[in-house]
Amino acid sequence: MPAPSARRILVTSALPYANGHIHLGHLVEYIQTDVFVRFQKLRGNRAIYLCADDTHGTAIMIRAQAEGRSEQDLIAAMRAAHLADFAGFQIEFDHYGSTDSAANRRLCGEVWKALRDRGLVVSRPVEQLFDPRAGVFLADRFVRGGCPKCGAADQYGDSCERCGATYGPADLVAPKSTLSGATPEIRSAEHLFVTIEALHGFLEAWTRSGALDPPVANYLAGHFLCDPLRDWDVSRPAPYFGFEIPDAPGNSWYVWFDAPIGYLAATAEWCERHGESFDAWWRRGAGELAEIHHFIGKDITYFHTLFWPAMLEAAGLALPTKVRIHGFLTVDGQKMSKSRGTFLLARTYLDHLDPAALRYYYASKLSGGIDDIDLNLEEFAAKVNADLVGKVVNLASRTARWLEATGLSAAYPEDGGLFARAAADSAEIAAAYEACDFARATRVIMLAADRANAYVDAGQPWKLAKAGPDAVRKLQDVATVALNLFRQLAVYLAPVLPTLAADAGALVGGPIRSWEESQTPLVGRPVGPFTPLMQRVDTKQIEALLAASRAEAASPGEFAMDTPGPSPTAGTDSGAALAAEPLASTCTIDDFSKVDLRVARIVAAEEVPEAKKLLKLTISLGGDATRTVFAGIKGFHEPAKLVGRLVVVVANLAPRQMKFGVSEGMVVAASGAGAEGVYLLSPDSGALPGMRLH
Ligand code: MSP
Ligand code: ZN
Repeated sequence: MPAPSARRILVTSALPYANGHIHLGHLVEYIQTDVFVRFQKLRGNRAIYLCADDTHGTAIMIRAQAEGRSEQDLIAAMRAAHLADFAGFQIEFDHYGSTDSAANRRLCGEVWKALRDRGLVVSRPVEQLFDPRAGVFLADRFVRGGCPKCGAADQYGDSCERCGATYGPADLVAPKSTLSGATPEIRSAEHLFVTIEALHGFLEAWTRSGALDPPVANYLAGHFLCDPLRDWDVSRPAPYFGFEIPDAPGNSWYVWFDAPIGYLAATAEWCERHGESFDAWWRRGAGELAEIHHFIGKDITYFHTLFWPAMLEAAGLALPTKVRIHGFLTVDGQKMSKSRGTFLLARTYLDHLDPAALRYYYASKLSGGIDDIDLNLEEFAAKVNADLVGKVVNLASRTARWLEATGLSAAYPEDGGLFARAAADSAEIAAAYEACDFARATRVIMLAADRANAYVDAGQPWKLAKAGPDAVRKLQDVATVALNLFRQLAVYLAPVLPTLAADAGALVGGPIRSWEESQTPLVGRPVGPFTPLMQRVDTKQIEALLAASRAEAASPGEFAMDTPGPSPTAGTDSGAALAAEPLASTCTIDDFSKVDLRVARIVAAEEVPEAKKLLKLTISLGGDATRTVFAGIKGFHEPAKLVGRLVVVVANLAPRQMKFGVSEGMVVAASGAGAEGVYLLSPDSGALPGMRLH
């Protein structure tokens, strides 16, 4: 139970887009936030960790279209995948919402009304780029071209990565649609704008209020607040997947309008479930305000430090206490890359390695600043093995078994002041966690681990064990000290390593519930059987992870949206298959056209356990209807990896009753002499489910 003096802390991570899977870059943020929240809870504060999927916008709409399903269907599937990934990394939200929720629609309406009432909304026509091939207006991120200010090539439609200028997509030099490659046309439509210049003075003061680190405040002052703030375009004409604006039919709120309001909606839903008052967390004038901490990456700084506080101010809602901005992840010194196999998905990592290892490694690299952080895979293995396995777990693994029969000594033995010294580190470690300087926290903890190991080395319990009855008492004492020091480390590491903390509790002393447990040694307690607490990271696991990641990047289904181009060919092109299998007898074009071949999307795939060769596939030819097809490709294709990819099917094949169900078509695949596999066919990128092969 939090003490009455406990702080109330509302913590958020940025809402991940529902158009892609969680990768190790995202996890820098979610792990960082989770560690912070777990630390606050362990300290007895009332912290809640809120997040949601960010579901609206052009990207989702286009992807749903390309996959031949509804947006709702796509975001539901992605939500399930996100939640599984987060759970795998022990990221524990108090609530995980969606921006496509009733609560979010209601709160968007509320904020909107406040902006209208304060006269902060104006309307004027906007020339926007329209992709004539895809039939949609192009969001800023879907146009690339030259920066109108510095001329840098290949920049996004909203801002220049080289000079930092912000502009509209229509300002780009020689723009191209990233959806279709078409040259966009300029079309005019009426848009609604928030005139945030009216809040210039407020923003100047707020950015200097302590909510932002000085370098961030300086950046904003130098790039944005030095000039009048441009009106913010917050509406998009149909077609657009979002909430229709109640007083502007045919227009939706821009995704970046409703996304941060998702923080409010997640709070509202959490409050609803827990009988709490939304106003007590967000409404000004409703008593003492809670702290609000937003964790974000540096790429979305201005949304959270200009637009968002402006919206909150206009709506009379509480302002962020702290916006904590982190840098970007690089892998082995470079941007994550699909071809190098370093575009590492959370799920792929979990298939090969322990989530605790990444949590610890990230913690050891995060210092609370905005610098990029590098995942160096060699260093990762070395650090996890040296620190966690070699120092922390080793303390328990080489002493716990001596206590299985006797339990801890009845009185805490003389330990040369080791426990007290590490107990006194509490303030420094806590201050480091509070500042999100987890690197410093883990450094101080590892120094304590070094001292503890030196103590065990000197005490030589393995010799005492052989030295006869006199030494038994001494052995119990040495092991009692070692296990207490181990448990103390587990308390300090609990925010980073919840599993280790739980295992330590199971070994001795019961579940770790409070930071204060680092202050008093345990005596006279039973000690449970020792089970290995953590495995070493093996280079083979890392190699397997990279290989799996490379293979994924090459599979067109999963990445159809962001890696256009034909899929790589499998096998070798030796001509052997053609030579070995003579051609079938000649047919006419009429014969051929009797066979209706279509592009289809695999929407689900599962093994048929009783069948040696069969996978059960659910395929879509576009639209809502799906069919079941049994395909003899088991063993050559992992069901999970098939989901989402395009294949070719014989769509007018008479349904066939099979032992396991009716097959409503046939998936076309290549096989034959020269290679063992069964190779599915995929169309070039751009093909859509339902297209006919001619
Ligand atoms: N949907 C928006 C956020 C809306 S918040 C109201 C978004 N989504 S995202 O999926 O692209 O990113 C989610 C968070 O992960 C962002 O804070 C982003 O900075 C962070 N990261 C995404 N890729 C990252 C790296 N490669 N490295 C570190 N953080 C990264 O932005
Ligand atoms: Zn530029």
